[in-house]
Amino acid sequence: MSDDRLIIFDTTLRDGEQSPGASMDQDEKIRIAKMLEQMRVDVIEAGFPAASKGDFASVKAIAENIKDSTICGLSRALASDIEAVAEAIKPAQSSRIHTFIATSPIHMRDKLKKTPEQVLEQAIFAVKKARQYTDNVEFSPEDAGRSEFDFLCKVIEATIDAGATTINIPDTVGYNIPFQFGDLIKRLIENIPNSDKAIFSVHCHNDLGLAVGNSLAAVLNGARQVECTINGLGERAGNAALEEIVMAVRTRRDVFSCDTRIDTTQIVPTSKLVSSITGFPIQPNKAIVGSNAFAHESGIHQDGVLKSRETYEIMRAQDVGWSDNKLVMGKHSGRAALKDSLEKLGITFETDEELNAAFDRFKELADKKHEIFEDDLRVIASETSIDASNEKYRLISSFVCSETGETPVAKVVVNVDGKEVKGEAIGGGPVDAVYKAIASTIPMETSLELYSVNNITSGTDSLGEVTVRLEKDGHVVSGQGADTDIVLASANAYIDALNKFTTDLDREHPQHSGV
Ligand code: KIV
Ligand code: ZN
Repeated sequence: MSDDRLIIFDTTLRDGEQSPGASMDQDEKIRIAKMLEQMRVDVIEAGFPAASKGDFASVKAIAENIKDSTICGLSRALASDIEAVAEAIKPAQSSRIHTFIATSPIHMRDKLKKTPEQVLEQAIFAVKKARQYTDNVEFSPEDAGRSEFDFLCKVIEATIDAGATTINIPDTVGYNIPFQFGDLIKRLIENIPNSDKAIFSVHCHNDLGLAVGNSLAAVLNGARQVECTINGLGERAGNAALEEIVMAVRTRRDVFSCDTRIDTTQIVPTSKLVSSITGFPIQPNKAIVGSNAFAHESGIHQDGVLKSRETYEIMRAQDVGWSDNKLVMGKHSGRAALKDSLEKLGITFETDEELNAAFDRFKELADKKHEIFEDDLRVIASETSIDASNEKYRLISSFVCSETGETPVAKVVVNVDGKEVKGEAIGGGPVDAVYKAIASTIPMETSLELYSVNNITSGTDSLGEVTVRLEKDGHVVSGQGADTDIVLASANAYIDALNKFTTDLDREHPQHSGV
């Protein structure tokens, strides 16, 4: 690997999924993985196979589907975890095992209840075990950002000797400050005698808003892999945002002596896909992918940009994938035109059945709103890939009445496990009434943590995309629904979330158990 290449390791599907409420099903993960591949991400961390059967199956399915990115699975420093990753990534053309154990005094003492000697031994064991399956092994000393320097050096030297080819330095709790973190990377590379035998990587969390700053400081000091996520998704305040890392390095070639192989025009579509699947909205002022990132409000700025774009813009919107959200189709467009328009957006379907389903959905939408824009097509494609066969609950019909001066009332019919169940309720408003009616058909105690509506295009006939986040026994899931009728979109989002509670609730969390 040449020294001027920065490896982009995306962990949206693993650390990103650890954000409360961001759990994704297999189909959603494959769609994101395909976008990441199209964006030319070098390594995709597809999940933590030992967490549950569902996680194992998702990593395996991604390994089967992705050809141009290396597929990586996370494991604790345990034989059984490493075996699970090895099995799940077997179908991949290029694969990696990522194993980790905590090295900071607080984690070793309070979480692992192990001595530093035991941790060192377990780290060496894990790397050697992983090397039995692949010669591409990454080791992470978890909470390296708060570990003692000499012990960290000892563990890293020993794990490189044991066969680790990438050493990842996580700032697990986002505690570091850029000058300090950059210096840590520099000193590790200078002091560890065999440091030239591995690529140094960083994995920074954003608890102090410094994840990107810390990652870039590390790059300036010799790190050649950055672990990051789309939209900065991740545990607690998230991870370093991929789009910010990639565009900082690309835009400031005068500062960084390396670059990535990322196709930056895929950034915005991928960001939108991740946002719509997870239901985590992108704040308007978010760098690169926020809706205001390239908008100029003040007259002075507008005037400047008209005279010379570079007066107020350091990047071009189209270089990161912003399009004009063009009008692409109308009511009379046919199946071939739909296929063509989807392909132009980088969306392809594996089967004719999926294309037919997308076409039916397109016709239904075109009947209601006549003009179909690129963003409408993205929503159609997103809905089409949802595999309805796994759904325990499905809305068959709803009737909602909301009249001035009267209490709104809703009646619904829901398919619950193959049986049609009727429900009726009144509510403070039409959405409240329909939620109560649905709740009366499904015996599950949940609490609503978030309800949000977002219009996909402008105009009162726009698709309304509804996101709900529900909590049950400490588990948080989110659901989405989109329709020109926002009450229907709300009902579908609620049912989508309820369906997510029926799968994979007993997942293990990689970093919570005291291994
Ligand atoms: O934040 C962290 O330390 C991690 C490790 C598992 C790499 O996510
Ligand atoms: Zn992390």
